[in-house]
Amino acid sequence: ETGYVTLDPGFVNTASCASAITYIDGDAGILRYRGYPIEELAEHSSFIEVCYLLIYGELPTAEQLGSFWEKVSQHTMLHEDFKSFFSGFPRDAHPMAVLASAVGALSTFYQDSLDPFDPEQVDISSIRLISKLPTIAAYAYKTSIGQPLLYPDNSLGYTENFLRMTFGVPTQPYEIDPEIARVLDMLFILHADHEQNCSTSTVRLVGSSQANLFSSISAGVNALWGPLHGGANQAVLEMLQNIHDSGDDVDTFVRRVKAKEPGLKLMGFGHRVYRNYDPRATVVKQATRKVLDRLGRPDPLLDVAMRLEEVALSDDYFVERKLYPNVDFYTGVIYKALGFPTNAFTVLFALGRLPGWIAQWREMMSDSTTKIGRPRQVYVGPPERSYVEVAER
Ligand code: SDX
Repeated sequence: ETGYVTLDPGFVNTASCASAITYIDGDAGILRYRGYPIEELAEHSSFIEVCYLLIYGELPTAEQLGSFWEKVSQHTMLHEDFKSFFSGFPRDAHPMAVLASAVGALSTFYQDSLDPFDPEQVDISSIRLISKLPTIAAYAYKTSIGQPLLYPDNSLGYTENFLRMTFGVPTQPYEIDPEIARVLDMLFILHADHEQNCSTSTVRLVGSSQANLFSSISAGVNALWGPLHGGANQAVLEMLQNIHDSGDDVDTFVRRVKAKEPGLKLMGFGHRVYRNYDPRATVVKQATRKVLDRLGRPDPLLDVAMRLEEVALSDDYFVERKLYPNVDFYTGVIYKALGFPTNAFTVLFALGRLPGWIAQWREMMSDSTTKIGRPRQVYVGPPERSYVEVAER
């Protein structure tokens, strides 16, 4: 009943693979995971349920979801030897460096589950990654501020557990606001997959050499860190803060961007695929005001962001280039309001994107026609020439 899609040759030449996981229509601003519109999943689903959907292809029954969650909640702790890992980094280490290293290091603790062709080993590695990334992220943060690490509390939900490990302290109970946890859970859903973006393509490329899942995901974390990709959410907040602190009005900043001042971009704007408003940005923007009102923490940076959007979307320079807000434009304002440090924003993106990376890696590994990724090049260097002794150069 899905019918056949007729791909024009140009598209086929640029398509890196066929995938059944995520569908994007960049012109119409459509995003679906396994056929379900992102707006419906954001409103009705949970991040753990979306993890199941992306990895196994179907929304789980209540029994399947319960069994999946039971497995995930049994693996949230890290090996005790792993804890010394965090203290080996400088306090001001960027948490994406810690996360990428920690994910790669997980393979040293689970050497019995590295075979990419053993379904049981791939399943337990998938579960361990989903379970342990929040613990790793929280421990990296706690170590950077010199606070004690909190063990996971498996009586809590996925996002509640993460918030408690991140912001809780052993000396007093941590009050979880279910509304706030729900917003963060929804943000994880919005980031969960996005077809063949830079970091997902990296995960597939590394996995195509038959490297294990942990090392492939570690490579994806590194790719996501870049400011043109997942690192944009951190760059957006720094941009908004700079505009606010400079006292310049937004119009002045936009004029400088249009003048292409070196290194100046409207971060959080533009997209390789969306030539329209990123549907995720629409959902995030609606949530931003709600979170700030709920927390009673008005933030002038939200006003700067909304003014930037208003000015840019009424300016031919951006409209002609089809530059609209993407998923990273508003998320930083929410993360800041929740209490996360700016350099941890991309870690939050990685936590959300993890199930998508896993699902895409598994899809690639299960495709018997997969060959090792080995792009060719057009050689534009010098023609053949003979060696010249150094005395004659
Ligand atoms: C993510 O691929 C994914 O799916 C990624 C992602 C995911 O979920 O995995 O959606 C997550 O990475 C979102 C993108 C986050 N990055 C940013 O917000 C950084 C700012 N954006 C840009 O760097 C840029 O828009 C890209 C990299 C996102 C996309 O670049 P394109 O489509 O390749 O555009 P381009 O670089 O070819 O530029 C086209 C024109 C140029 O102007 P001209 O040379 O034609 O005069 O648009 C201009 C660019 O200078 N331009 C911008 C701009 N982005 C492009 N000008 C100002 N500000 C910007 N942000």
